[in-house]
Amino acid sequence: MALCQNRRDFIGIAFGGVAAVGGIFALGAMKKSWDPLPSVQSAGFVTVDLSSIAEGEMKTLQWRGKPIFILRKTVDTPKNEQRDVLVGDKVFTLVVGLCTHLGCIPYYEGKSKVFKCACHGGEFDASGMNTFGPPPRPMDIPPFKIDGEKLVLGEEGLEYKKLMAKKA
Ligand code: FES
Repeated sequence: MALCQNRRDFIGIAFGGVAAVGGIFALGAMKKSWDPLPSVQSAGFVTVDLSSIAEGEMKTLQWRGKPIFILRKTVDTPKNEQRDVLVGDKVFTLVVGLCTHLGCIPYYEGKSKVFKCACHGGEFDASGMNTFGPPPRPMDIPPFKIDGEKLVLGEEGLEYKKLMAKKA
């Protein structure tokens, strides 16, 4: 009788264990189906709080797999009204941080206020205009929208359309 009881306990525990593992897998599968597809995530918008960027500071973030540079210009940083993003009295450079020669990622040298590309010596000014070396054109400006002190990357807002109109 005791043997029968033990066997029954064992079968009960075994079934319970299998059901618990099955439940965990089912939850994992359900979560996967709820999550947005990677393609949807990569096409998404990124919101950046511009008020947290200090004068002269450059922020780098990822958007759609590309580096994005946001530089808040200082008073003595050369301005470029064809490319500058104005938020109140603050002036920003917003560019896709890829060299337009062969796609290396330049770095910003704050002292000389120049973006330098280590690959072939290309240079861009603080507004992302190509000024030296092989880069054939300025760094690209990603689509953006200004919402108060927030920047929404990926959405074509009025400010972006105005800059693009100035380029044309
Ligand atoms: Fe930048 Fe060639 S990739 S200069």
